[in-house]
Amino acid sequence: MTPPERTPVTDLHLDRLPSDFVWGTATAAYQIEGAVREDGRAPSIWDTFSHTPGMVAGGDTGDVACDHYHRWPEDIALMRRLGTGAYRYSIAWPRVVPGGDGPVNEPGLAFYDRLTDALLEAGITPFPTLYHWDLPQALQDRGGWAERATAEAFAAYADAVARRLGDRITHWATLNEPLCSAWIGHLEGRMAPGLTDLTAAVRASYHLHLGHGLAVQALRAAVPDARIGLVNNLTHCEPASDRDEDVAAAARADGHTNRWWMDPVHGRGYPEDMRRLYGVDLPERPGDLETIAAPLDWLGLNYYFRNVVADDPDGPLPYARQVDLPGVRRTAMGWEVHAEGLTRTLERMADDYRVRCLYVTENGAAYPDAVGPDGRIDDPERTRYLEEHVAACAEAVRRGVPLAGYFAWSLLDNFEWAYGYDKRFGLVHVDYATQQRTVKGSGRRYADLIRGHRAASRRAA
Ligand code: IFM
Repeated sequence: MTPPERTPVTDLHLDRLPSDFVWGTATAAYQIEGAVREDGRAPSIWDTFSHTPGMVAGGDTGDVACDHYHRWPEDIALMRRLGTGAYRYSIAWPRVVPGGDGPVNEPGLAFYDRLTDALLEAGITPFPTLYHWDLPQALQDRGGWAERATAEAFAAYADAVARRLGDRITHWATLNEPLCSAWIGHLEGRMAPGLTDLTAAVRASYHLHLGHGLAVQALRAAVPDARIGLVNNLTHCEPASDRDEDVAAAARADGHTNRWWMDPVHGRGYPEDMRRLYGVDLPERPGDLETIAAPLDWLGLNYYFRNVVADDPDGPLPYARQVDLPGVRRTAMGWEVHAEGLTRTLERMADDYRVRCLYVTENGAAYPDAVGPDGRIDDPERTRYLEEHVAACAEAVRRGVPLAGYFAWSLLDNFEWAYGYDKRFGLVHVDYATQQRTVKGSGRRYADLIRGHRAASRRAA
């Protein structure tokens, strides 16, 4: 295949981005850390799920992953090579409170303490997320997110982390993509804990929101100057045709993917049309909706693809089938490459929800990588995806969106959940046999873009 032309940095209009725009990379604990039995860590639902035959491609698990638990100094050095100014990662609840609630595990906290200091020392702002899907198994054994006690345990864990790291960390995210935890983990069964139970899924969505709100309270109490956000994976939903049925299907897809996750945290409660569609009573108590709608300092958007849907009355909820448009570019995940959808989703968050500070907290693409004879990895398709989506961010800013930063998913190739290690999203290649890291062409290009933006900002100053 002929590699696509590399777009000059100036043509990407990076000068439209604010001069203090944050450039970062993102990862998550279970996907990179490994060391699942070290220093008092207890199993999470992902340890259980990945060790259940048939749940993860190739029988892969996160037992070793990228061995980041031991190799983090090397990984911080890689961030410095890329020139990123921020790092979004997650803190593993089962390291810090192995039983889910109860005693705090000092060695678990100490790991994040060392990581924090080293990031700051390297001039990289830490952006930790408190929950990226690795619920302590002990809590799942008591019902997990379907139970209110899990939301309360999450707040206690948030408090423990904030007290320990809040003197140095200002930017916090509570949850990553609660949609995936609730819908994919409890309704579709393709992620931990692997349930296919609508009632459990709706209850889980509610308790995830409640846990988020309670964690915001805990963070605010422990870290007065905290800048707190929530990370959602939202997307632009379009009808496949202008048939009324498809238009209605797109509204349902939007409710399932976007409104259910945005409305309650913006004080609008849960959307009525979706409550009716699910037909499950929410476990509401007085005051919960106010807790869930606690004011936030920023919102994170994880964007990968748009959603073009057709009515599917016999299919699974929300009865909207994703349509495979012919002739579009797709990543190895089968996801359509559609950068305009990123601009539109950002605009929607700013316009409909009046969000005043946004970050793209994840964006990236899986492609199979070939290691060249000289050891180089050129990944023109991922590079093009990156350029197009960074340009889509610049376009959003031109249209008035208050976008403060972009985090590429991912720093490293890593454990891609039910897809195992086969799907590679990294800007840095990981040879899992040797743990050797190699910066890919896309990583080198990201470094160029960051330098290009900084140079444009200096010229404009
Ligand atoms: O790898 C995941 C990440 O954990 C959450 N957001 C989507 C990524 C790619 O699938």
